[in-house]
Amino acid sequence: MIDVLIIGSGGAGLTAALSAKESGASVLVAGKTYPTNSQTSMAQGGINAALANVGEDHISSHISDTIKSAHGLCDEDMVRKMCADAPQTIEWLENLGVPFSRLDNNKKGKDTIAQRQMGGASAKRACYAQDYTGLKILHTLYDTCLKENIDFLDEHYLLNLIVKDDTVRGATFFNIRTGEVIQINAKSVVMATGGYGSLYHGHTTNAYGSTGDGVAAVLRAGGAVSDMEFIQFHPTALKHSSILISESARGEGGYLVNEAGERFVDELKPRDEVARAIFAQLEEGQRVFLDVRHLGEEKLMELLPQEVELCKMHEHVDPAKELIPIKPVAHYTMGGIDVDYALEVNGIKGCFAVGECSNAKVHGANRLGGNSLLEIIAFGRFTGENAYKHAVYASNKEADNTQKAQDKAQIEDIYAQENTSNFYPYRELLGNLFYEKVGIVRENKQLHESLKEVIEMQMTQKSMGISDKSKTNNQNLIDFLEFRNALLLAPTIISAAIARDESRGAHFKVGFEEENEAFKKHIVLQWKKNNEE
Ligand code: FUM
Repeated sequence: MIDVLIIGSGGAGLTAALSAKESGASVLVAGKTYPTNSQTSMAQGGINAALANVGEDHISSHISDTIKSAHGLCDEDMVRKMCADAPQTIEWLENLGVPFSRLDNNKKGKDTIAQRQMGGASAKRACYAQDYTGLKILHTLYDTCLKENIDFLDEHYLLNLIVKDDTVRGATFFNIRTGEVIQINAKSVVMATGGYGSLYHGHTTNAYGSTGDGVAAVLRAGGAVSDMEFIQFHPTALKHSSILISESARGEGGYLVNEAGERFVDELKPRDEVARAIFAQLEEGQRVFLDVRHLGEEKLMELLPQEVELCKMHEHVDPAKELIPIKPVAHYTMGGIDVDYALEVNGIKGCFAVGECSNAKVHGANRLGGNSLLEIIAFGRFTGENAYKHAVYASNKEADNTQKAQDKAQIEDIYAQENTSNFYPYRELLGNLFYEKVGIVRENKQLHESLKEVIEMQMTQKSMGISDKSKTNNQNLIDFLEFRNALLLAPTIISAAIARDESRGAHFKVGFEEENEAFKKHIVLQWKKNNEE
């Protein structure tokens, strides 16, 4: 039996794997795609650490900026830990060989790393590698995992956690290549499965696969989820494709302008405020643009080459010469699996969660740009160590195959099920419903309508199925399983949004436009043992 099973092979999972292995654990990383295919690469602009390489900065300022942006919903101890760990986190990445952009300052090591401004930050704090920061970190972590001989099971889709006496014993997976259901027994499990932003299908910077599979699995297994209603909208996605244009474009001096060429918001406010200001312009019938022309081609190519390429490729505009049409779309889910100080899942012993799938309560109601990469690395290392410590004292007894047998039967049922309602249009419908009614500005009437529509969709799900009955490499089946998870999570987001009669950070509700002290608390959801919500 392996010590630590990591589920998810993005930046959080790879970091946890390296740290568990370094602690002495046997480690296996299972993921539904491939390690370099993860949302980590969407954190383009940088990773925060108060290094003070460019002007004055202090860890205390990083802490207070993060707390301010969280609007009273973070755990200040967790924020302090993350921000205080940031400089050594950068040092760790530097030692692994992440190719950060550099300053020409005659210093050494991490003191030469270039830093830029991000929204809501009181200093130039985001360390960057041009505008490829997440991607470069991800590749470096994967290279290191290969060097450390960490084992990977790619194309293994998580079905369920195996839990006995409230303690995790492993998980079941669908092997996408072969069509088999397998069971992996483990003493500790780390969930690093990403967020649920692709519920906003067609209106998100996320890949199709960010369907909250791990969050849904934890809920089914008896664990808690929290703050599900807090969804971050990134202010600048390309208008026609929802492709992310990094906040670093504004950090480097880009403007937001309307059709009249007027700037209408301080571009470096936190994302919730900027996204709402853009939304208000769009509601007035204005088109909104990002303007980086004044930065000049040379600077754009040096600092933001990926953004230039994305604009040319997907919007057919040259940012050095033209305005970039933009809109805000769903980007990041602050809520997720509810964890304690050790990042152990509340309700399931030995199961840990890290990264976007987890709610470690460092982002609260609104995450700061540059803090997501910091969280996955700083807390990824911490989680790996904690998972190993749990494994040392965990039972060696392997779980029986009850869960595997149930999951195998369920997959067989899906193959046998008649497909009378095609689920793909429902996936689009769900995305549009969420964008329009569970979006940047919410109203109770619309939230109630959307809950009703989601429940109707859940009823229709019984007549949905797959048309491709191939046993191997069946993408139709994976899309269906993902859609089922999205549909399972949808009511948790809407119900929490309905319950929160106030506005706080990314949750803004018409008729309740102020923060209300009575709601300065987390909404935690957990299924009862008999599976009633
Ligand atoms: O805009 C960005 O580069 C995204 C950064 C982040 O989500 O942290």
